[in-house]
Amino acid sequence: MWQRSSISSIVASVKKPLSSLGSVCAIIGAQWGDEGKGKVIDVLAAEADIVARAVGGANAGHTVLIGTKKFVFHLLPTGVLRPKVVNFIGGGAVVHLPSLLEEIASIEKQGVNLEGRLFLSHQAHIILNAHKEADTALEERRGKAKIGTTKRGIGPAMGSKALRIGVRIGDLFDPATLKDKVTAELDLLSQMFGILTNPDQEMADLLAGLNGTREYIADTAAILHDALTGKKKKRILIEGAQGSMLDLDHGTYPYVTSSATTTAGALQGLGLPPQIVTSVIGVLKAYTTRVGEGPFPTELQGADADRIRERGGEYGSTTGRPRRCGHLDLAAVKPVVWLNGITHVNLTKLDVLDAEDVIPVCIGYEKGMPRYEKLPGWKTSTRGFTAWKDLPPNAKNYITFIEKFLKVPVMLIGTGQGREEMIVRS
Ligand code: IMP
Repeated sequence: MWQRSSISSIVASVKKPLSSLGSVCAIIGAQWGDEGKGKVIDVLAAEADIVARAVGGANAGHTVLIGTKKFVFHLLPTGVLRPKVVNFIGGGAVVHLPSLLEEIASIEKQGVNLEGRLFLSHQAHIILNAHKEADTALEERRGKAKIGTTKRGIGPAMGSKALRIGVRIGDLFDPATLKDKVTAELDLLSQMFGILTNPDQEMADLLAGLNGTREYIADTAAILHDALTGKKKKRILIEGAQGSMLDLDHGTYPYVTSSATTTAGALQGLGLPPQIVTSVIGVLKAYTTRVGEGPFPTELQGADADRIRERGGEYGSTTGRPRRCGHLDLAAVKPVVWLNGITHVNLTKLDVLDAEDVIPVCIGYEKGMPRYEKLPGWKTSTRGFTAWKDLPPNAKNYITFIEKFLKVPVMLIGTGQGREEMIVRS
């Protein structure tokens, strides 16, 4: 049975829970990314003043469905869809300017006006075309041990940053020194990765990038500081990217991304102090997916994986790659709750499990193998449900099991792709 409510009633239902989240809420992926962060950020942004993206680059892909319109974000914060929300891309992000310009043009074509609503940090590092080439070259060199990166140049750009040879957005304003910096960086990149570089093309792209983004470039950390300490306290959503298990330090290294994807990493990326955070929503898919290589103890194979993949539309929104699918791994998520200080869970894509007879959940490991608790399926549609009371008992049981295991309330439950297909528990 379909249950649909209007977006205005969802927005109304969001008001109360959002106020219980306090003024600064971080939204963080609790698995290997693609948990559905875009949708919850979009829903909560209805009652926020600011959405701030902290780290990562165009390797991310947040999808939001509004009616029949599909929006996919790679670097732009999801808050751009709410006309009153001001959006920030923090200094922890890495920016490939031609891709950002493309994203801005595409969203403006879909009727979104960014004027005065987007700030890009002068501290953010630039991903050159050479970084993308280097990403591909490095993956080829790794051979069988490849990471399965998105080939968006993230690793090499973060490498340049750590080596202190990187070029930052603020450098664009000084064309005289920019050329020297870019040339020096390209020289090193070509030696390190054995790639051909094109300094003229890089410079042309950088100057076009400056022209297209000049109005957005700012000291974002200082503006956020003012917003948080001003007379009228602003409500901020911190938009996490990727997932905690892809974190450079705490994830399944080396099968990780090159940034800090946790709450702490997001704060660092935005230049915010830790005590400012009032709540952290861990976004958790009702099952597990992973793109790229690396360990995945609860991974399914064959028809079982295909069924979940097709029902859940589990294909990468950045690369289109089929995602690996498997059972929910609560044993792996438990430390993620602690690591991020998760105060609430947004369980996403519950409806994808509607047809399952039995739903195994990993609750620990024995000799490296997952130990499962087998929970009964509900075998009825929950698609589009908006009220907790209407959920079948076995679906409630599944959610309650997760809450008890993680010791965190599941406050939001996704029951479909649409903005309005969500249960908000107060
Ligand atoms: P990179 O971030 O492109 O270097 O990729 C490193 C690993 O992180 C690969 O396994 C990617 O598939 C994965 N990854 C990076 N960004 C995302 C994301 O937004 N969702 C899911 N996986 C991601």
